Amino acid sequence: MTTSSPSFPTTTRAWILPSSPTGPSSLTIQTLPLPPLGQNDILVHFRALSLNYRDISLSKGTYTRPALPNLIQGSDAAGCVLAVGPSVRLFKPGDRIMTTFWRDWISDGQDVRSFAGSDLGGNMEGAFREFGGFALHALVRVPESLDYREAAGLPCAALTAWECLYDRGDRHVRAGDTVLVQGTGGVSLFALQFAKGVGGRVVATTSSGEKEELLKKMGADVVINYREVQDWGVKVKELTGGVGADIVIDVGGASTVSQSLKAARIGTGTICLIGHLSGGHGEDVPNVWDVRQALCKVRSVAVSSRAQFEEMVRAIEGWGIKPVVDGKIWKFEEMKEAYEYLADGRHIGKVVVDVV
Ligand SMILES: NC(=O)c1ccc[n+]([C@@H]2O[C@H](COP(=O)([O-])OP(=O)(O)OC[C@H]3O[C@@H](n4cnc5c(N)ncnc54)[C@H](OP(=O)(O)O)[C@@H]3O)[C@@H](O)[C@H]2O)c1
Repeated sequence: MTTSSPSFPTTTRAWILPSSPTGPSSLTIQTLPLPPLGQNDILVHFRALSLNYRDISLSKGTYTRPALPNLIQGSDAAGCVLAVGPSVRLFKPGDRIMTTFWRDWISDGQDVRSFAGSDLGGNMEGAFREFGGFALHALVRVPESLDYREAAGLPCAALTAWECLYDRGDRHVRAGDTVLVQGTGGVSLFALQFAKGVGGRVVATTSSGEKEELLKKMGADVVINYREVQDWGVKVKELTGGVGADIVIDVGGASTVSQSLKAARIGTGTICLIGHLSGGHGEDVPNVWDVRQALCKVRSVAVSSRAQFEEMVRAIEGWGIKPVVDGKIWKFEEMKEAYEYLADGRHIGKVVVDVV
């Protein structure tokens, strides 16, 4: 084992969710033993953790499927390598790393059966802890231009936005394309930054005037208040000369998909179905025939692979992108309060918890 210090932790504090959880108050902090490192394992000291809407849904038992009981929660963290197993060459003590959302989704084109069920905090032990042993392939280096807090939000939100815009399918976002992003949460703000990086035109929706200002400062070309303009899908068509958005990133689900369909470019537009902030089902949710009539494509996205994560890291460095971290930083012991804060929608960008 290669180490950076002669003394290593033998236990870690971690945030655990029991079976049948009823919300963030169900979380408990527990002290767990750290198993010995295997040949290809890496011992990590986490320094910053980041929350996703998925963590809230899991804590309430409303996610698409429940987390395994008594599992360490969370998918997103950044930290420092403390020690590596004898066969590890890729990382060394002192390196800064991030977790991957899917532990075993390594490369593009990989058979989904080989990584399904490897999601951190849902089916695999998660990242909301002080220390942890991780397999070599389940970590990615932190962009040199970012600190731990900025990097902590990349594994889920940023990589999902990246996958929507730079997937290896038939079409990437190109200079001059119009990208529609919804709200000022993690995924949408990263999508805005990634679209601007390549010279895209961004139309953003939001719920408040204060957030409109932030979106404009970040480079949004047009901002629509979706509380004031209920038929905002039609507005997007108008603003694009009747053409529509080339890529729509739908985070709302039930309450937004029908508007997204109106906003998408006829013929070649793609709607990336990401989120379910307003639920996933409902009488008003369009059906496949509506998609056929709108002559656009609908794509379901579930984060992305380690290979795409590495490409995204290079792009973040190249473009000099700085993630938006919410102004309120939480302590490790304040995890439940951080969950409530995110659930109440009081945040802008990524909600981050510090680990000392
Ligand atoms: N499929 C995937 O791979 C994947 C990956 C990551 C996230 N997700 C999902 O994507 C969604 C967004 O995730 P996130 O981490 O970006 O969330 P987040 O950080 O919690 O951001 C949510 C933001 O969206 C806006 N919003 C809230 N309710 C809305 C609604 N009904 N319609 C339109 N906008 C609404 C609000 O911004 P304003 O006040 O500015 O409107 C809010 O701050 C969640 O459902 C999450 O589970 C899916």
